[in-house]
Amino acid sequence: MTGPVLAVDQGTSGTKALVVCPERGVIGTGFAEVHPRPLPGGRVEADPEELYRSVLDAGGRALAEAREPAVALGLANQGETVLAWDPDTGRPLTDALVWQDRRAESICAELAPHADELRALTGLPVDPYFAAPKMAWIRRHLTREGVVTTSDAWLVHRLTGAFATDAATAGRTQLLDLDRTQWSPRALELYGLLDERLPEVTDNTQPVGTTREFGAEIPLTGLAVDQQAALLAQRITAPGGAKCTYGTGAFLLAHTGDRPRRGTSGLVSCVAWRLAGQASYCLDGQVYTAASAVRWLTDLGVIKGAADLDTVGGAVPDSGGVTFVPALAGLAAPWWRGDLRGSLTGLGLDTGPGHLVCALCEGIAAQVVLLADAAAADLGEPLSALRVDGGLTRSSLLMQIQADLLQCPVEVSALPDATALGVGALARLGARPGLSLAEALPDRRPSAVYEPRITADEAAERLSAFRTAVTALLDA
Ligand code: G3P
Repeated sequence: MTGPVLAVDQGTSGTKALVVCPERGVIGTGFAEVHPRPLPGGRVEADPEELYRSVLDAGGRALAEAREPAVALGLANQGETVLAWDPDTGRPLTDALVWQDRRAESICAELAPHADELRALTGLPVDPYFAAPKMAWIRRHLTREGVVTTSDAWLVHRLTGAFATDAATAGRTQLLDLDRTQWSPRALELYGLLDERLPEVTDNTQPVGTTREFGAEIPLTGLAVDQQAALLAQRITAPGGAKCTYGTGAFLLAHTGDRPRRGTSGLVSCVAWRLAGQASYCLDGQVYTAASAVRWLTDLGVIKGAADLDTVGGAVPDSGGVTFVPALAGLAAPWWRGDLRGSLTGLGLDTGPGHLVCALCEGIAAQVVLLADAAAADLGEPLSALRVDGGLTRSSLLMQIQADLLQCPVEVSALPDATALGVGALARLGARPGLSLAEALPDRRPSAVYEPRITADEAAERLSAFRTAVTALLDA
């Protein structure tokens, strides 16, 4: 089947849709905001109906702009966001607990004695970031009715009536046997979810049904979790390459081949995608707050928005001795201390907005360096370059600091919407199984390459200040 595909990326703060044509590239775009609600106690909720409406709105806008029907649909999702819903009516039974929601800490604490076993089985540490603790929390505290799943399974059901999730998204739950890419009865037992009705775990290119929600009938042939979709769009399909997407959080993924690599450096080992029954795997590290930390600085009135980073931060030579650990929602890999909060040190009467902006950029970039170092340790070789995408890559200040601290080139993707393009490629592959992966993927060309401008010694010194600040938080 040739013709344009509709690729939809249902993200934390908005849904982006592209209509992608094999010959002419992107011929239609649409966006719809969603509004997750941060609540006291580390809770973050979203209205499931708003998520669904945003998929229809963004997709509808992209198709209207393209003025051509789509031959296939691809849907990327947030990963670890969960809800309970009624499989007969499709009606949500709870709000969605967003991936950032920390309320399941107590369930994770109970499972601490089984942490090693769960990690060996699923590749993931026990942490409320993942879906299973939130699913268990919903069952204990909100409802025992209906099914409890990641948000993708609900969206897929509303779109097509199918009950399915792809292997990579299932891998974000801590309920998937990483080697077999099937639900793990032991993990389900540990979480008290053994009796749950769970969606079928599909390949990422398995046609799961058709939707009429966009007017004409469109087969849904591509499913993916967002970070893995971006890894694919960056054409990292073999071991050795890594990408970082700077969205609400920043997520560094490194491909590890067709076997899971359970490293020792604190990164997550997970499914990248499963095609024709064959799984590919990746290592994954997370910075929980990237654009959301920029948003925080904006809400405080330090800057007017992300577009200000370069002007305000560029007006000063450096952070003026300020160190910012932007752990505003805790620290993920390699520390797994979601309970921690951020720190700002080295403030003086001469500290101005520019210093705070530089310190924030350094704080985000330093965390990405520590993740890249952890990936390199697990892979046994340093990264030769980092491919990057996501909204914050528009900041040349952040990207230069990233290259400086990383001490290797940072290649900014010319594709601003890598996640949507990745799931669009999967949808194309699902609709035309004869196509090779390479043929289905978009061209990858960097729009800019940032080379390090400081010496390795200078980078090490700046990283050491950041490490000291993190250690102070960990020891407090
Ligand atoms: O793990 C959560 C992450 O994938 C969400 O990404 O782009 O919605 O912030 P994003």
